[in-house]
This record gives sequence, C-alpha cells and structure tokens, in this order.
Amino acid sequence: MFSRIINVSDVRQTHRQTYLYRALRQTMICMVDFSSVYRGAPPWDIGRPQKEFVRLEGAGEIVGSVLDVGCGTGENALFLAVKGHVAWGVDFTPIAIEKARYKATERNLNVTFLTQNALELHTLGRTFDTVVDSGLFHVLDDEERPQFVNNLASVLNRYGTYFMLCFSELEPGSYGPRRVTQSDIRNAFDGTWHINYIRPAQMESRLQIDGIHAWLSSISKE
Ligand SMILES: C[S@@+](CC[C@H](N)C(=O)[O-])C[C@H]1O[C@@H](n2cnc3c(N)ncnc32)[C@H](O)[C@@H]1O
Repeated sequence: MFSRIINVSDVRQTHRQTYLYRALRQTMICMVDFSSVYRGAPPWDIGRPQKEFVRLEGAGEIVGSVLDVGCGTGENALFLAVKGHVAWGVDFTPIAIEKARYKATERNLNVTFLTQNALELHTLGRTFDTVVDSGLFHVLDDEERPQFVNNLASVLNRYGTYFMLCFSELEPGSYGPRRVTQSDIRNAFDGTWHINYIRPAQMESRLQIDGIHAWLSSISKE
C-alpha cells in the first residue's frame, strides 16, 4: 500500500501542470486507501504521541481546547486529554476513528472522535483554541490546501494557533507523502495568518528509527 504513495509522488514530478496529471493523481489518491492501511499497522501510527507535540505541550504552547485534524487512531488527542485539555479528533477514515474511540474507552479518557472530512470542518459547529496536525497537511494536494486553510479558519478562535508537523523537502528519497517546503507553508498561510515559526523537526515513524526530516509550524489566526 505504501508503494502506491510512492507512485503518486513520481507522477507529480513528471506531469505537474497537466490536466492528465491532476485526473490521474486524483484517481491514485483514491487508491491510497487509508481504510486498508489502518487494517494493518501504518508507519506513522507509533502508538504514542509525536514527541514534538509532547514537547510543545510541556512548553505551554498548546493552550485551551484542542482539535487534532487527521487524528488517525488518536494518540496526540488522547495525550492532550491526559494533560487536561478538552480534546477532539477528526479523521475521514472510519476505521481510524473506531480505533481511536476504542483507545479512549480503554484508557477512560473523554475525547470526542468524529469521522469528518478536514475540508468540511466548518460543519463541526464549534471552535477551538488550538489545532494540531501530524501528517495531514502533507497529504493534501494543491487544490485541497486552500480549502483546508479556509476550513481551519472556521474552527480556530481568534488568535488561536495551528501547530503542523509535515514531511520536509530535506527528507531524502521519494517514499511516503509529498515533501513540503517552507515556501509552500508560507504560501498556503498568507493573508490573515501570522506564521510564528517554521522549525526543523523530526517526525517519528515505525519504519525510520532516526525519524523523518519535518517542519514544525506554529501559525496563528489574526
Ligand atoms: C499520515 S496519517 C497521520 C495520522 C495521525 N495524525 C497520526 O499522527 O498518527 C494522515 C491522516 O489523515 C487522514 N486524512 C487524509 N485526508 C483527510 C481529509 N481530507 N480529512 C480528514 N482526514 C484526512 C487519513 O485518514 C490519515 O489518518
């Protein structure tokens, strides 16, 4: 399954601007069937929160109510609930949400997990002080990014902050999701957003012991 993701990236390099590319990529993205991946053990599903979010919470950067977008099986949201935050997690893959709910019950934690498309966050009908994202932004294509950013604005309180961890272009090879540059992030969040920082970071994975070159971004809604 992961090898299909590699193919998507290769196609992107070759046919970036063409309609054929877009149609083909859309089809292939559908073939990256997250439901099937979650029946096994996804490389990103490390069974604990990403250390970057643990560090952010310890530093007091994550405040108030939190939404984890593209939460997968929920480890980051569950960790933030343990730390006393009102925590919600949304993901469009039902099996991931089932697993997240199971963990919440097992650990006796009160986290709201919903099957929800991150491109339709406005339908949630509530806002949060903080949004965290580990690995969602980098799976969105060029057309989805602005839709996502608009939806993000609809669920973040004024001056609320979005923390995003994504693959960076410094990660060698072409496996996994597309690489994201600092310019990509700045372009996606121009206008009514304030970029507090974009820092080099490590994304943990079950496959790479040393972690993956990533960017950790802190972006606030003005
Ligand atoms: C790389 S995984 C990361 C999962 C989780 N954040 C973690 O760290 O374990 C990306 C997640 O984004 C979800 N996803 C992708 N596109 C989405 C969308 N448009 N709306 C909601 N979830 C989406 C996938 O189902 C998957 O769980």
